[in-house]
This record gives sequence, C-alpha cells and structure tokens, in this order.
Amino acid sequence: MSIPNINGNEWQYVKDCLDTGWISSAGIYVNKFEEAIQNYTGVKYAIACMNGTAGLEVSLNLAGVSSNDIVIAPNLTFVATLNAISYSGAEITLIDICENSWQLDVNLLQNWLENNTITKFINGEPITTEITSGKKIGAIMPVYVLGGFIDIDKLVEISSTYGIPLIEDSTEALGSFKNGKHAGTFGLTGVLSFNGNKIISTGGGGMILTNDTEIANRAKHITTTAKTDPLDYFHDEVGYNYRLVNVLAAIGVAQMENFESILKRKKEIDTLYRSEFHGVGDIKFQENDPNTDPNCWLFTFRTKKMRELLNHLNSHKIQSRPFWTPMNNLPMYKDLRYISQNDISNKIFKECISIPSSSNLTIEDQHKVISEVKKFYKI
Ligand SMILES: Cc1ncc(COP(=O)(O)O)c(C=O)c1O
Repeated sequence: MSIPNINGNEWQYVKDCLDTGWISSAGIYVNKFEEAIQNYTGVKYAIACMNGTAGLEVSLNLAGVSSNDIVIAPNLTFVATLNAISYSGAEITLIDICENSWQLDVNLLQNWLENNTITKFINGEPITTEITSGKKIGAIMPVYVLGGFIDIDKLVEISSTYGIPLIEDSTEALGSFKNGKHAGTFGLTGVLSFNGNKIISTGGGGMILTNDTEIANRAKHITTTAKTDPLDYFHDEVGYNYRLVNVLAAIGVAQMENFESILKRKKEIDTLYRSEFHGVGDIKFQENDPNTDPNCWLFTFRTKKMRELLNHLNSHKIQSRPFWTPMNNLPMYKDLRYISQNDISNKIFKECISIPSSSNLTIEDQHKVISEVKKFYKI
C-alpha cells in the first residue's frame, strides 16, 4: 500500500558503513541526514532519533511535561501519539476531529479551554490549568493526519495565549507545507517518522525538528544518554539511548536525494485517484485548506460501503486498509476524557479506506486499482 522506494544510493551508502565499520551510533551519515532534513524543511535544527514515537516521547520531556499534567491530543490518530504521552505519565484529554479535514477540531479545543481552564501569569509567562483538577495543561500534540494540515495558525495562537507548548506529530507529513512553511516547524518541536510505510523510510527512524537552540541542544543531549564528557562516563540526567544509528541514517541520506521525485509521484497518484473517483458511488475525499500543499502520502477516502469495498479489494490482491480505530475505542484509552459533539472520529473510522499509494506504483497498476474500485460500484 505504501512500500519503500529504494532506487538511489542506499546500497552504496550502507556498504560504505559496513566497509568502514561505522554502523552504529557515530559516523558521518547521521549528521548528513540531519542536514538534509534541515535544508529541506527550513527548520533550524533537526535531531535524528530511533523512531517517531521516541521523538514524541522526548519532545514531551523537552516541554517539561510531567505526570501531574494534562496533554491534549486528537481522538483519531495512530496509537503511537497516545503511547508517547502515556510514557510521560500525563493525563490525556482527547478532542474530536473535523468532518471534512479529519484533523483535530481546533474550535472544539478552544471552546474547552475557554470553559474549563484558567490562565495565570507567572514571571510574565502564561500558565494554564484545568479548573476542577488544578492540573497544568502541559502540551497540545496535534497530528497531521495523512500528511494534511491542521488549522495550525489558530493552534499557534492558542499555544501562545494559553502558554501551552505545541508538539506537532508531523510523523506523516514530510513534504507538507503551508504558505511555504513546513509541517512540524510551527511549535516547540515537530517530529518526523521514517517507518517502513512513510513517504521516505530508513526501516525505522525519526527526527525531532525545532527552531529553538536550547531545545535542540537538549534534544541531542538526552537522546544520547545525557553524557557530558567525550572521555569520562559522566551523565548529568536520566537520558535515553534513542539515537539513530549510522547505517540507517545512510539509507535516509540516499532517500532524501530522491525525495523530490518521490513526492512528485505521490502527488500524481493523488491527482489521478481524485479525478477518476470523482462522482463514483458515494466516495468523498479528505479536504485540504487551499493555502496548504500536502504530501499526499496515503490515498484514503470515505464510503459507507467501506467494509465491503475493503474485502473486495483485498480478495482481488489489492492491499487496502481501514483507518485507525479511534483512541477511545481501545481498551487502555477507553476511559479518557473525550471532548466531542457528534463523535465524528468514529464516523470517519467506519467509512475510511486506504488504497495503494506507493511512490513506485506504476500507472498501469494504479489503473488496475481504479478499475477494481469502479467494478465494485458497478461502473
Ligand atoms: C500519526 C503517527 N504518529 C506516530 C507515529 C510513530 O512513528 P514511528 O513508527 O516512527 O514510531 C506514526 C507512524 O508510525 C504515525 O503515523
């Protein structure tokens, strides 16, 4: 459905690591990969780490989130968003999504903050706490679902008014821009993932993005065991061994060399699906704000016949998947507070299906997918 596209210098760079013995936590490719992501996204600092989940977990630490805090996240996301928050021990508050964009409903969030929290100024800085529990709102973790944009301008405004750090789960959004600014570069940190199904992959990997020098230094420090001295084993806090190894970063460097062509292909796939499926059955597409330029990572659409279509396509050897089960339907997260008016998350989950979108999908194969979908709707 979304498989890695290994067509460049991956073999050569990995061979270089193997030949020289630089396969582990030091070596030139980690720095090169970080630089490639910095140059592409325009962010000041990019810090490579083991995977996206680790990047989100570390970001919460960098934001100072503790087990006494509340962290806000959307109800429709991949489970890793909530897992990362759970590791911090913070309480999670879930917010429903918007019907058309499938992204966190920022109005619902603002409304909840207005009615349930109080903001005080401590040393000139706003700090927001929930009125009933007295707990601090430690962070908001919005998700760029399928690489599309949340209402990020409004979120940035909320973040500064209420003094709540934004940690952007931009794991799916490498290549997504709004008015020329890359996803994951608006908040305190943003996190990318290079998991096997992502727009580029290192097998497993992640990157923390930030424009803040102090946060960047701390990110590097705590993801590499918080060692303060190059010689002596002196560590000044409880760190993590979450660095990305050189051999995986080498794959990332090669992937970034081909990124423009991978991204172009993703957009072509999206355009063809949208034009071929327009008006077919009850199909509806994810809507994007016209000021945004999403990466079109994984083509996903809505239909009331989702289950039947899913079975039809999979039985014809066309790999298709349902959307994520909403977080409040998972056993470990079912009791979380969920702010919603019409439970849109559940509705979207029941109707959404993802279909083949690999950047190396041939046009012939894409037409096979299209014709199978049309056959299902008897067109
Ligand atoms: C929305 C979302 N958040 C977090 C992650 C976690 O990233 P990783 O698999 O690199 O840990 C992923 C991807 O897997 C994701 O899609």
